[in-house]
Amino acid sequence: MRALTIEPGTKDSLAVTEVPVPEPADDELLVTGLAIGVCGTDRELNGGLYGWAPPGEDLLVIGHESLGRVEAAPEGSGFAVGDLIAGVVRRPDPVPCPACAHGEFDMCRNGEYTERGIKELNGFGSEQWVVKQDFAIRLDPALGRTGVLMEPTSVVAKAWDEVFTVGGRAFFDPTSVVIVGGGTIGLLAALLGGQRGLEVHVVNSSQKPNKEKLVTDLGGHFHVGDLPQILAEVRPDIVIDTTGDSGTLADILESVIPYQVVCLLGMHDPQDPTGLDLATIGKQIVLDNVAIVGSVNANVRHWQQAAEALAAADGQWLSSLITRTVPLTRALEAFDHERGDIKVVIDLQA
Ligand code: BGC
Repeated sequence: MRALTIEPGTKDSLAVTEVPVPEPADDELLVTGLAIGVCGTDRELNGGLYGWAPPGEDLLVIGHESLGRVEAAPEGSGFAVGDLIAGVVRRPDPVPCPACAHGEFDMCRNGEYTERGIKELNGFGSEQWVVKQDFAIRLDPALGRTGVLMEPTSVVAKAWDEVFTVGGRAFFDPTSVVIVGGGTIGLLAALLGGQRGLEVHVVNSSQKPNKEKLVTDLGGHFHVGDLPQILAEVRPDIVIDTTGDSGTLADILESVIPYQVVCLLGMHDPQDPTGLDLATIGKQIVLDNVAIVGSVNANVRHWQQAAEALAAADGQWLSSLITRTVPLTRALEAFDHERGDIKVVIDLQA
């Protein structure tokens, strides 16, 4: 069967490769791979900047944003042939650390976790794949192709969970959120913010009519431009930064207000200089009881929250997030940036 592979550490190694059809173990589902989504991490993988092959192998099957249809399920698994599912990305470390032992592998303490399609485990970018029943999430069949948005939604569901947990350390009754970055993660964060009844503001670096429409369709506000000014005007209870841009982080930290919760989702480039006045910023963070929380990955609870959030969303709105679908045979094209792209998806059966 065909799979989308890279050679970790080698730039531009992405290829469609023939690999053996997987054999499901007793506790595994056999799944027809329908689609995978492509994100910044996949671009880093193909850039040779990130990623690890399974031990003893040279190639890694990529694809961590999955959508599949169950082909065979063990009796008593709770899954049936034909179920639409997504596969959880991370697996607990083998030690395991206390967090992994408690099912919170997204909070792994020793870094020895593995991730499908990223770190030492083959991903879901193949015509067929297997997954342990405990790491498969059943989707509302009405989601159809938009079910491929599950993985980024799980990351966002975790972020919201973090924000409310951290905010809940004292009286917390938030009314507004500023989300910086209008990519897939930012827009899904806006969706889930709206579902929580918040006034949602999305700040994008440039004018994008399709993103503006997606935000206003949610009842939110779309902004372009001066982030410090927007933060000063809105005075949000919550800021979610999806950009990984250090200048943006500087703007956010220089604009904090009392009891604000700032959640960071984007990966920063350590080479990116900021020229931050840390003494002034640190003082303000203390005086304002500001909480800054980083968030990565998601555990099974967040995946279930994501499945519920997507099931409650407008189907047309979700479809509009997927701006391009390319066949597996031309998978490389999914890694190009095209005008108007939001989420680009690879069809694994074409
Ligand atoms: C994925 C996460 C993963 C992280 C680090 C992100 O792109 O969405 O599931 O934990 O990369 O590998």
